[in-house]
Amino acid sequence: MDTYLQAQAKRLKASSLTHLFEQSPQRCETFSLEAGEIFYDYSRNHIDSEAMSHLCQFAERQGLRQAITDLFNGESVNNTEQRPALHSALREPKSASEKSRQVHAALDKMKDFVEQIHRQQWRGFTGKPVDSIVNIGIGGSDLGPRMVTQALSAYRVDTIDVFFVANIDGADLEDTLSQLNPETTVFILASKSFTTLETLNNALSARQWCLDGGCSQDALYKHFIAISTNLSAAKDFGIAADNIFPLWDWVGGRYSLWSAIGLPIALAVGMDNFHSLLQGAYAMDIHFRDAAFADNMPVIAALLSHWYCHYWGTRSHAVLPYAQRLCRLPAYLQQLDMESLGKCVTRDGLPINQETGVVIWGTEGTNGQHSFHQLLHQGTQMIPVDFIAVKQSMSDYSDQHRHLLACCIGQSQALLQGKTLKQAQMELRAQGLDEAEIKRLAPHKVIAGNKPSSTIVLNALTPKSLGALIAFYEHKVYASSVLLGINAFDQWGVELGKQLGKPVYHALQSGECDPLWDSSTRALINALKTS
Ligand code: F6P
Repeated sequence: MDTYLQAQAKRLKASSLTHLFEQSPQRCETFSLEAGEIFYDYSRNHIDSEAMSHLCQFAERQGLRQAITDLFNGESVNNTEQRPALHSALREPKSASEKSRQVHAALDKMKDFVEQIHRQQWRGFTGKPVDSIVNIGIGGSDLGPRMVTQALSAYRVDTIDVFFVANIDGADLEDTLSQLNPETTVFILASKSFTTLETLNNALSARQWCLDGGCSQDALYKHFIAISTNLSAAKDFGIAADNIFPLWDWVGGRYSLWSAIGLPIALAVGMDNFHSLLQGAYAMDIHFRDAAFADNMPVIAALLSHWYCHYWGTRSHAVLPYAQRLCRLPAYLQQLDMESLGKCVTRDGLPINQETGVVIWGTEGTNGQHSFHQLLHQGTQMIPVDFIAVKQSMSDYSDQHRHLLACCIGQSQALLQGKTLKQAQMELRAQGLDEAEIKRLAPHKVIAGNKPSSTIVLNALTPKSLGALIAFYEHKVYASSVLLGINAFDQWGVELGKQLGKPVYHALQSGECDPLWDSSTRALINALKTS
């Protein structure tokens, strides 16, 4: 632990958020900023100028400045896999570099395909135009495109429906296919590795569904395209070479929605809107790359997360978008943040002597208010919150939108102010309760307050502002990893369960267990075996 930050935390723990606001009435002006169409109010956090200055100095000591340069310069920031993490290159305007040529050639290929679908020139095996796209992918090959497609539903092209299938549970595929016609459906097999169990099995079943629906082997190419770095595996699956969209090993799965993995987005909302999404992210890239730490939105957000996790003992962070169409943002951020920061060794492979990563969770407001907000308000743990509010209504029900925004602001106010015993007693007295009843009930109505939150405001939920919002969180995660000294771009932890699942699959099929397996594994296989 950093002794300077320890001292700052000790000092601020003796104060309170309401006190900080009283001391400095212009606090929100000091602790808010704008970048890439986002207004970020972080004034409701346990910081003051002195603490922020120490936090920024800590970031300097951790080498964040150089690490940001390394990220954008394409250094091997993913040191275990010895490769760069150049998702920012996917959003850069066209330049003369070889990487830019590759990126823009892929964008042109996407545009060509999207236009053929939208102009109804891409026909299925009976000559009918395609009206449905099914993206088969999981993790980074699903969560980002699914979240963005949902978020931008106001921009949807109405001649095409886009569906997503991820789970190996056949019910996911079956429920989707039951709505579709094989003659007019195209499947996108989205897999960076093209080895992922869920995706390959769903792809095989989808192919069989097409064949069963009357498509010949020779016409399958009209219904299957792939996005992968593993061209040979995609070809072996039977994907026509022209139907394979490239991806590169310097794009991490959970950072890949900006690449051809974003094809379902482009199909849903058009290529121009996809370009706007990239532009929004690019604006945030420039901000993250160039702004001083004290004015740098992703850096500040990362510092606050670090501050709370290591000096205030928080173990989770809630993301609460007060926008129905951002309902999939928390799920997307779970992979982005937790797969990146859930590590137990430093970049050099040494055991890490501090907590890494926190649990990211949340749901769309106001639904969460009638569910888990009780824990935020009166639970004993401190859980920092990101509220996300969008000024422009996404429906014609403008008064409901005002209610929505009022709820959002009201929740953050409640977290900040809480309710004292005295206030609770006064309220009960005003309701005409007798003193014995007031004494009995008042302690239950006390809300400690002093709970931190930040509010992110978008003027409107547009491709551009959404691009900036996603890039903000991507860079926050990278900055957090640098503060911890860990690699944000690998995910070795997910491999073991995959390896162990293989022999268990065979045991479920054969009914024969390895006698060396533990008794719980054997009992579960016996209970669940299908032979
Ligand atoms: O579950 C781990 C993981 O490798 C994720 O990091 C990735 O996004 C997902 O699987 C899907 O991988 P692929 O795109 O290679 O199918």
